[in-house]
Amino acid sequence: MKKSSISKFKLYEEAVQSPEWQANYLPQYYTWLFGKPPTTMREDFCGTARISCEWVKISPKHRATGLDLDAKTLEYAKKVNMADMTPAEKKRIKLLKQDVLKPTREKFDWIGAYNFSFYTFHERKTLLKYFKAVYESLEKKGVFFLEMAGGEGFKENISDKKKFKVDGVGTVQSVWQQKQYDPVTQVNDYAIHFKLPDGKWLEDAFTYHWRIWEIRETREILEEAGFKQSMVLWEHSDDEADEFLPQEHGDNRRDWLAYVVGVKK
Ligand SMILES: C[S@@+](CC[C@H](N)C(=O)[O-])C[C@H]1O[C@@H](n2cnc3c(N)ncnc32)[C@H](O)[C@@H]1O
Repeated sequence: MKKSSISKFKLYEEAVQSPEWQANYLPQYYTWLFGKPPTTMREDFCGTARISCEWVKISPKHRATGLDLDAKTLEYAKKVNMADMTPAEKKRIKLLKQDVLKPTREKFDWIGAYNFSFYTFHERKTLLKYFKAVYESLEKKGVFFLEMAGGEGFKENISDKKKFKVDGVGTVQSVWQQKQYDPVTQVNDYAIHFKLPDGKWLEDAFTYHWRIWEIRETREILEEAGFKQSMVLWEHSDDEADEFLPQEHGDNRRDWLAYVVGVKK
């Protein structure tokens, strides 16, 4: 059978990521908190490291480090996403095959964990270990952004279809599948499938076995790890733009996406 030459990583990036927004919007909160712009960042669970790539392109002062456990994903980041970068930009980005549970020797102004990746940790003690490792890896003043999703809609057994155009490939359909949520363990299985323009399916292109952490318990664990302050950036969207603003209460939505921010100071 002829193997498809279309990379599942490219399809994933087109289907779920918005790295320019993440590299530009969230670090503004660092400036707001500390009165100076951040320069160094670490992208945890970086996958194909799109946010790190965007970060170093924004300013010659910016440096980025991406951490991921998967060698193939990091290889794609280097071969494809870093290919069009200038030699100077390449010098300011480091991709390491490393567990995020281990602190890095290098310290950063901000660290981000996107697309709910920390849900991969199921036990409270493991999440605490991760948050402590992040705390240790931040400069004396630093910010930790955690992208979270939740609500009843995130736990339902459903499939959500979306069509999008991919340069050089054509129109692709992605299917986000949520399986059977277990209210006792708070664990659920998720999968992303892709239907290619020739009708072939890339089933289970990505699969996740996630514990659905809640915002309140996440903030409590951040505090236990040493973060003196935490904030919740809650979504305010209109036709113009997506905004996430600090709030101590949220409206009870069927689906929500929010950023929990740990502040080290
Ligand atoms: C959901 S993907 C996230 C990709 C990308 N960060 C994004 O926002 O779309 C999760 C990634 O985390 C990596 N990963 C899982 N456990 C890890 C760990 N303990 N340390 C570092 N990377 C890990 C996986 O290899 C995978 O590439």
